[in-house]
Amino acid sequence: MPSPETALCLSWQQNAKTWIEAVRSGAIESRRQVTDQAILVAILGRRPEHVLDLGCGEGWLLRALAERGIDATGVDGDASLVEAARVAGSPQVHLASYEQLCNRAVEIGSGYDLICSNFALLQQDIIPLLAALGALLAPGGALVIQTLHPWSEAHGDYQDGWREESFAGVAGKWQPMPWYYRTLASWLNALEMAGFRLASLQEPQHPQSTGPQSLLLVAERVD
Ligand SMILES: C[S@@+](CC[C@H](N)C(=O)[O-])C[C@H]1O[C@@H](n2cnc3c(N)ncnc32)[C@H](O)[C@@H]1O
Repeated sequence: MPSPETALCLSWQQNAKTWIEAVRSGAIESRRQVTDQAILVAILGRRPEHVLDLGCGEGWLLRALAERGIDATGVDGDASLVEAARVAGSPQVHLASYEQLCNRAVEIGSGYDLICSNFALLQQDIIPLLAALGALLAPGGALVIQTLHPWSEAHGDYQDGWREESFAGVAGKWQPMPWYYRTLASWLNALEMAGFRLASLQEPQHPQSTGPQSLLLVAERVD
């Protein structure tokens, strides 16, 4: 039986093709209506010149940033997604697992004004990774994390732990993905323990929905 972290990475190998289709066809409504724009606005508001997109997937955010004149570099652990991002026009995309980033086993550049991660921090132990990312930021640099909103996803069980995403409601053939659910306090503690200070917290919402579509955290490195 693989560990949840291994199963998580395996699920991306299995879901890569379906994921690319879903993202590029706009099949995920919350992204189309709310969350794509929310992370773009949060990033652009800080006027960065050099951005690293952690867990960039097929690269939609890299392309959106490049269109706005931002030098955008991506990193992802899945080879098919990295290839898809490169083919779609983003030459600076590295293939590396988060574990390799923690161990500094792969060189992905440094001196970034901003590191973003859009629904891509899904494993249990994020503190060493966040700390490693802090070392890649230029002084005054920020981390912008968009993730599943803990209250929308609690389903009556508000405590950290592994859960499973089935992608029900999104067309296509999917393998379930294990992901680590964390409470709001758990997110904030992880940032603090990794050497970051919360600069802003947003709960992007569609005017016609009854709850937030995501949690968006902006954190600055404590120098
Ligand atoms: C939900 S997708 C999000 C992709 C992209 N950020 C977007 O907004 O479309 C999660 C991404 O995180 C990457 N990922 C998850 N865990 C990873 C790990 N341990 N190492 C490297 N990449 C990982 C997956 O390969 C996948 O591309």
